[in-house]
Amino acid sequence: MSAQNSTPFEIHGTDHVGFIVGNAKQAAAFYQDRFGFEPIAYKGLETGSRDKTCYVLKQGKVVLVLETPMIPDHPHNAHLMKHGDAVRDIAYWVSDARRAWEHTTANGAKSVTEPHEIKDENGTAIMATIATFGDTMHTFVQRDGYSGPFLPGYQTIQSAAPTRDVGLQYIDHIVGNQGNGEMDEVVSWYEKVFGFHKIWTVDDKDVSTEFTALRSIVVANDNEYIKMPVNEPADGKKKSQIQEYVECNFGPGVQHVAFYTHDIIETISDLTARGVEFLMVPDTYYEDLLDRVGDIEEEVEILRKYGILVDRDDQGYLLQLFTKPVQDRPTLFYEFIQRRGARSFGKGNFKALFEAIEREQDRRGNL
Ligand code: FE2
Repeated sequence: MSAQNSTPFEIHGTDHVGFIVGNAKQAAAFYQDRFGFEPIAYKGLETGSRDKTCYVLKQGKVVLVLETPMIPDHPHNAHLMKHGDAVRDIAYWVSDARRAWEHTTANGAKSVTEPHEIKDENGTAIMATIATFGDTMHTFVQRDGYSGPFLPGYQTIQSAAPTRDVGLQYIDHIVGNQGNGEMDEVVSWYEKVFGFHKIWTVDDKDVSTEFTALRSIVVANDNEYIKMPVNEPADGKKKSQIQEYVECNFGPGVQHVAFYTHDIIETISDLTARGVEFLMVPDTYYEDLLDRVGDIEEEVEILRKYGILVDRDDQGYLLQLFTKPVQDRPTLFYEFIQRRGARSFGKGNFKALFEAIEREQDRRGNL
């Protein structure tokens, strides 16, 4: 893989993931109760925001921002009608938002919002936004001059209910689904606009079941705090899950966000007890697990109990598990991942997973 590309401005990591949802208040309760995110900041009528309501939730270094339009002609409504509850913004934490915007727009990115300062009594943040695939965007957030709960304009909130976290640490990767034949163009865009480099790839020879297939290329920034797999459907006998996503999302968009945990067994047992629904592989997956992945520290019986998947690459192994979609449309879902050396993305699990997804697609009449 080429590692010649380089991003000429510093990206410290994902600042936050921005969603547009139909009812931010209820979505916030879902992420708090089911996934253990703590509500930390709020913007709405009580803070003088009359056109949209925003809830900010945090766990470890992961920050989610849920926004709901409050007036009929708010631009968020178009996103909501087209995509349903969905990710709109993958925001990057940068040292210099002006420089990030200038570099990316000079290299072909379309500007959404030019660099601007926002202020309140807690200081100043500098933000700028560019468009990426579909209706998704990247906001650059420079927050070294700000010390409040999230960003200027937000107020601290405290939930009446206690929050119990499930051990999520940070975002491991965020995946973008593209339409048929669009993956290479999006990957080239990240190489050209951001100086990202390719770190991993799978094609339909690696990942196909009897029926469905996908292609994926992962791009990353220099420090690899940002890792972004870019998927497209590949032809199979039946409809690829990527194609189902693109049809139900009415275009490209974020397919899943992967959260890193230091103890996936604890995390998954906790999430299961809270009613989070996961994709389950057949029991036979565990029969030859150790033949496939070699020695692992975890007991196979416990992994089997929770349906946790394991894959090995030349640097170690990883454990992972995927939820079912978290809204009515079969679009966005979540991954939980623990890495024991492995830096890849679970190629060895794709076939078992795809078969599990196909069973779900079939139940939805989308296979
Ligand atoms: Fe993933």
